[in-house]
Amino acid sequence: MERIGVLTSGGDAPGMNAAIRAVVRTCVYYNITPYGIYQGYEGLIQNDIKKMDAGSVKHIIHQGGTVLKSARSLDFKTDEGMQKAWENIQKHNLDGLVVIGGDGTFTGAMEFGEKFDLPIVGIPGTIDNDIYGTDFTVGFDTAVNTVVEAVDKIRDTATSHNRLFFIEVMGRDAGFIAVYSGIAAGSEEILIPEEDRGVEKLFESLARTSKRNKSSRLVIVAEGDNNGSVYDLEEKVKDEFGDRYETKVTILGHVQRGGRPSCADRVLASRLGVIAVEALQDGKRDMMVGIRDREIRYTDFEKATKQNPKMDKELLRIADIISI
Ligand code: F6P
Repeated sequence: MERIGVLTSGGDAPGMNAAIRAVVRTCVYYNITPYGIYQGYEGLIQNDIKKMDAGSVKHIIHQGGTVLKSARSLDFKTDEGMQKAWENIQKHNLDGLVVIGGDGTFTGAMEFGEKFDLPIVGIPGTIDNDIYGTDFTVGFDTAVNTVVEAVDKIRDTATSHNRLFFIEVMGRDAGFIAVYSGIAAGSEEILIPEEDRGVEKLFESLARTSKRNKSSRLVIVAEGDNNGSVYDLEEKVKDEFGDRYETKVTILGHVQRGGRPSCADRVLASRLGVIAVEALQDGKRDMMVGIRDREIRYTDFEKATKQNPKMDKELLRIADIISI
């Protein structure tokens, strides 16, 4: 391999910069010329591609977001878009690509790589942690820490006013952020899309703990939960319990996607960045690199995108016990 392109695509995640840095520096280490592709697949189509060197990625390991910028390209889903992207890859003589992102990124990589016979390796980067083939995705650890910090603050005001808070966290299709932050912040209930235990479970837990005269109650709701929005939930609780609780709703939103990456995310991103370039050199393609049980794992894009990562039922059991 002589030239490798790197891009970030889909929702940004803290630690993406650390991954870019590792990819670029590993290329330099192996005498490969790295190319940064800006705005994800959109940059491939627009020929927004620049040669990089070890210095291009200085002082970025600690920054959130992505210096290569990101986009969700609709054009890349069309034949014309893919054709233009391929022409630009040929213009720069790129021998392979490292793509950093989530399942949308990998689906695009799979189709493109097959169509034009281009080796592509992926690095899982999304705060949602919803990728099969790795215990954790780059960005998840930072995001849950951001959520826990925010929920701790909400706890202060909830306690001061004896309030019940419904807190919506990100996770369109996955409840990992909700479950981890719910356990870590000591929430009363956690509602997630993978395991719909219904509002009755929430009612039952509120009724049970109301005997304990708790001064605050926090309910963490993943945005993809099937019981309606956090506002719907608030209404349902009011219908059931009348004015027994003073309720409030907080939607944490995009604050969860930003911020300095945690140590765990920086180390994970750095490891995966090195392994991704080495994987391309070893002739690997059409697959994602991840870490499971502390070991490097390679997972076909097909499997990484189609197979849902399992929600850890044990964590839900723990959450139920300790919120009694
Ligand atoms: O990055 C994943 C995610 O955070 C989802 O949990 C969320 O639904 C989505 O991105 C929102 O992203 P955007 O606002 O960029 O469309």
